[in-house]
Amino acid sequence: MLYRTLGKTNLKVSEVGIGTWQLARGGDMWTDPDENESLKALAHFVDMGGNFIDSAWIYGYVGKTGHRYSHELIGKFLAESKLRNKLIIASKVPPKNMHWPALPGVPVSEVFPPDWIASCVDDTLRDLNTDYLDLMQFHVWQDYFVEDDAWKSAVQKIIKSGKVRFWGISVNDYQPDNCLKTLDTGLISAVQFIFNIFHQKPTETLLPYAAKNNIGLIARVPLDEGGLTGKFSQNTKLPSADFRNHYFREPRLAELVKRTDALKTLIPDSQSLTQFALRYILSWPEVSTVIPGMRKTSYVDTNISVSDGRKLPPALLSELKNHSWERNFYI
Ligand SMILES: NC(=O)c1ccc[n+]([C@@H]2O[C@H](COP(=O)([O-])OP(=O)(O)OC[C@H]3O[C@@H](n4cnc5c(N)ncnc54)[C@H](OP(=O)(O)O)[C@@H]3O)[C@@H](O)[C@H]2O)c1
Repeated sequence: MLYRTLGKTNLKVSEVGIGTWQLARGGDMWTDPDENESLKALAHFVDMGGNFIDSAWIYGYVGKTGHRYSHELIGKFLAESKLRNKLIIASKVPPKNMHWPALPGVPVSEVFPPDWIASCVDDTLRDLNTDYLDLMQFHVWQDYFVEDDAWKSAVQKIIKSGKVRFWGISVNDYQPDNCLKTLDTGLISAVQFIFNIFHQKPTETLLPYAAKNNIGLIARVPLDEGGLTGKFSQNTKLPSADFRNHYFREPRLAELVKRTDALKTLIPDSQSLTQFALRYILSWPEVSTVIPGMRKTSYVDTNISVSDGRKLPPALLSELKNHSWERNFYI
């Protein structure tokens, strides 16, 4: 496993991190997680040199009982493995109004009031069996939030308390630049954003900005929720509650298959499409870490195999621009 520096934090993060949204029960978007297999995948990832774990307060949250199952699963792993201090743990404060993405026009006082930020940090520390977080991220953002000072004081106070080392923003889906004025405050060390062969928009402004200002970059949804593994076909049937039934609804599934078939013809060697898609992201030196969701040990093996320093050649990166497919799958 190779490591990169997470911007000005100076933390050395594995260039392949693990996304944990789908690892545990709860929530209503991913179906059928086998938590024993998820725990094995997490342990295997760490055994293989992975050190960056991304989670969120909301992952696997069940309102009726208050469980946050993704946090709890990671907390169990940290307690049993005793590896906390070797790992870099990131989580996210959900919007208090529970609205993803942040709606334009809503004041930050309704989304991230200081007492909400503080209580979500405390919940997270308890869930994860730790007394500090390496990175806490706002789970949605609107750049006009920069005009309010309350969240800034809250973040500074929490960092001073030692509960959180660095702060980040996980930007709204498909809005990579909806944070740039906020980054100018210097309070934010890392940005998490959708980046994959289909959604190349971050290369236009966010990547150059981050390189210039030493902001850590965390690339999420690198496999387009599994679409860029090439495992979806016209006949794919997902469990009915899986959100990807909506995400890949017709005519998008047919279009996805057409596009992944075209991408397969560009792979220069015996890599799989999954490896090619992840290597595309690691070919950008501005990216600190890519965080595929991995709930199987076999996924860990495939996905970390791209951490070998080999980048796609510039001509191929240029050719791949023709394969971008900018769309908002959620609308
Ligand atoms: N707003 C936000 O802040 C936000 C939003 C989305 C995601 N995230 C973070 O980013 C992480 C990654 O995004 P994501 O998980 O949504 O999307 P993703 O990484 O693009 O796709 C993950 C899915 O791809 C499939 N997959 C992964 N590796 C595979 C392999 N080697 N072979 C075959 N299939 C493979 C798995 O599907 P199956 O499990 O169904 O087999 C997996 O659940 C999340 O876990 C989360 O930590 C953050």
